[in-house]
Amino acid sequence: MSDTEVIVLGKNGQLGSEWLETLQKKGIRVKGYSSSELNITDSNRIEEILDTEKPKLVINASAYTKVDKAEEEWKIAFEVNGKAVGELAKACQKRSIKLVHYSTDYVFSGSESDIQEFPAGYSENHPLAPQNQYAISKLMGELYIREQMTDYLIIRVAWLCGKNGNNFIKTMLRLGKERPELNVVNDQFGAPSFVDNVIENTIALLNIQAKGTFHIASKGLTNWYEFAKTALELKEMQTVVNPISSNAWPSPVKRPSFSKLSTAKIEMLDGVKLEHWTEGLKRLISTLD
Ligand SMILES: NC(=O)c1ccc[n+]([C@@H]2O[C@H](COP(=O)([O-])OP(=O)(O)OC[C@H]3O[C@@H](n4cnc5c(N)ncnc54)[C@H](OP(=O)(O)O)[C@@H]3O)[C@@H](O)[C@H]2O)c1
Repeated sequence: MSDTEVIVLGKNGQLGSEWLETLQKKGIRVKGYSSSELNITDSNRIEEILDTEKPKLVINASAYTKVDKAEEEWKIAFEVNGKAVGELAKACQKRSIKLVHYSTDYVFSGSESDIQEFPAGYSENHPLAPQNQYAISKLMGELYIREQMTDYLIIRVAWLCGKNGNNFIKTMLRLGKERPELNVVNDQFGAPSFVDNVIENTIALLNIQAKGTFHIASKGLTNWYEFAKTALELKEMQTVVNPISSNAWPSPVKRPSFSKLSTAKIEMLDGVKLEHWTEGLKRLISTLD
């Protein structure tokens, strides 16, 4: 008989590390695993751990997240974000363990025209149309879970930013200290998910025994240029931020022009608290050096 209530996979990532901290603070018996402690593609080891630890809940915050590299390393992305998630789902279902899994705004097409057509963002049941290898791999994970599990939460997040690990805002603040000017694209629109808010609202979903697919993201709409500029202003940095077009920033991978996640579904539920992206950004900035 083990003591573990919750297992967190991906404990060194920005989401996994904050999950671990949050649960530890709440006095919940939690065990976290890094990729070297538990490679999610090792399904035998996952089964072994689930049988020894007997958790009630597994939080999968692990993922292959190198969006650009995934164009070449698609086999690894498919193994980690697709097949391994399928095996994890099967193992959890067999043992009646609830699974919380995170997915991405990239499962949608992200077409420019959708800004006008779906101003409130993509709803949970909007048609899926991943545009790059990373996005396809994340969609595979979603499909495996839905096919094999009854008690799960698939939570899609976008532009994820938290105090731990790496993210866009931390990169902008670092570059802002090193350079007098930054060029940032202003033609890709969305609304960020802040890690602390994602965790708070995932807990709200768990408290009401919610099941299925949900979006957690800020209210409002912004673009990467405005997001970066606001962050630097909040930090009172003098760095000049210049808006540029995506065409001026060659990338090996197609990124969405629009990727706002609609939060209408989750907003109706008890205990859920969403905020405008500027509020989440202010709070994040106050925690960063
Ligand atoms: N970041 C974003 O902007 C964003 C946007 C939308 C959705 N998401 C989704 O949100 C979730 C959390 O993202 P994040 O930003 O927190 O990711 P992250 O910081 O890149 O962390 C991912 C973690 O996954 C672990 N990992 C990678 N391969 C693994 C493997 N084979 N076995 C076990 N663990 C493995 C890594 O562990 P080690 O460090 O120990 O190697 C890493 O710490 C992911 O599902 C991601 O797809 C992220």
